[in-house]
Amino acid sequence: MMKKNRIMIFDTTLRDGEQCPGASMNLREKLAIAHQLARLKVDVIEAGFPVISEGDFEAVQTIAREIKGPMIAGLARCVAKDIDAAGAAVKPAGKRGRIHVFLATSKIHREFKLGKAQDEIIRLAVEGVRRAKGFVESVEFSPEDGSRTEPDFLVEVCKAVIAAGATIVNVPDTVGWAVPEEYGALIQHLHDSVEAFSNGRAIISVHCHNDLGLAVANSLAAVRAGARQVECTLNGIGERAGNAALEEIVMALKTRADFYGGVECGVVTQEILKSSRLVSRMSGLIVQRSKAIVGENAFAHSSGIHQDGILKKRETYEIMDPQDVGWGGTELPLTKHSGRAAMAARLKHLGFKMTDADIQAIFARFKEIGDKKKFVYDDDLTALVEGHITEVPETWTLDYLHVTCGNLTVPTATVRLRRNCEGGEVCQDASIGDGPVDAALKAIDRLTKTKGSLRDYALRSVSEGQDAMGEVTVKVDFGNQQIVTGKGAGTDIVEASTRAYLNAVNRFLSSPSQKTKS
Ligand code: KIV
Ligand code: ZN
Repeated sequence: MMKKNRIMIFDTTLRDGEQCPGASMNLREKLAIAHQLARLKVDVIEAGFPVISEGDFEAVQTIAREIKGPMIAGLARCVAKDIDAAGAAVKPAGKRGRIHVFLATSKIHREFKLGKAQDEIIRLAVEGVRRAKGFVESVEFSPEDGSRTEPDFLVEVCKAVIAAGATIVNVPDTVGWAVPEEYGALIQHLHDSVEAFSNGRAIISVHCHNDLGLAVANSLAAVRAGARQVECTLNGIGERAGNAALEEIVMALKTRADFYGGVECGVVTQEILKSSRLVSRMSGLIVQRSKAIVGENAFAHSSGIHQDGILKKRETYEIMDPQDVGWGGTELPLTKHSGRAAMAARLKHLGFKMTDADIQAIFARFKEIGDKKKFVYDDDLTALVEGHITEVPETWTLDYLHVTCGNLTVPTATVRLRRNCEGGEVCQDASIGDGPVDAALKAIDRLTKTKGSLRDYALRSVSEGQDAMGEVTVKVDFGNQQIVTGKGAGTDIVEASTRAYLNAVNRFLSSPSQKTKS
């Protein structure tokens, strides 16, 4: 039985987070995040929705096999084939496997989506939980749209699924409708009405969406009312406006332990920033500068009065120590003279588990960067590793890029690409455009015979100084709702942009829908 004041952190970055449009990730990217979540010491990783696609199944199964520490959950509707797929996918995790079954319970969903009466919903929920119990000990049930479900019916659902074997009942605020006082009162009502919650035989979990910007506040109100598991995502990514942000929940509970009655969670907070950055790079979703805890400005004090106060006593204007969430503490940078062993040692120190082949490939890029800039900082190295992880089979490789631009010049780009197929065809084209990047992308479209439209473009500096590496993230629409993220890094922003676009093209060409055409 769990300690009464222990809050379980259930991370759903790889499931609900990935449902954020344009955030879909491949297996290597998901695995890299899962390894980091294990270092962060979350209690549960919801690794995906196995029945949805072969890719999701493989991701959950691989994570269940490779990740040690947290429980690994797979999501399933209350349908036999979903539950069976989730059971098979989490099997390699053994006793750490969990099946998370959900079924809508609110009146609006019952009447308009499912066309089912209350007793039918209870029957299906119980059947689903029993079936899941045939695969794993740990079964979680979610009454979808729980916050808009009649409270007394919700009590009935909780009692029925617990009797059927569920040990966690999650109460989703699926559409972000709840407000803290009301949601807290609902959780309190469940806690007081279902004996299994007060005697610790089952726990209440919460899962809040951020449509009104209240996901974190609602989750915290629920903790005050007795919830003992919080479902959240790094950087708050997720469906629509996202989910409750893990970093905010964890730091609120830690910083305001006085208010939350000394509850504790097992997260290693010093790993938060690294985790946030990894998710941002893997998902292509940029973190806003003023984002709490992990935004660039989260600990930046610009007012002279504040700076003076901080110098006198940090706590005058800082409620958290930035180092507690992973800010600061940079090591001596590497240079082009650093050898492979030094780079490999630094990668290990940064927490990356790499094969010799990975190190070889990263070292080649490290040398290229080292030639162009004086120091290679940890952030530069991290960007190189993450670039390597996000690499996809390269149908096309950039061989040569030349651009001309200026205030009185028509921007022109010459691009040479190598096709990685038998014979290794090399082709070249030139194009004009609205700017050098636009010209290069047009040339790529012509050479690869794809037609992408740029939906989003973001450039950020990876490290500091004039020779800092730039990292470009693009979202490219290839039609038929296929929005693909591409990433590229380099000391030259036109080159980084071209690499990012080509990365998106290669991703698109290696996606299952395109592979079946070729
Ligand atoms: O928001 C939601 O209701 C969900 C459930 C599947 C838990 O994501
Ligand atoms: Zn959700």
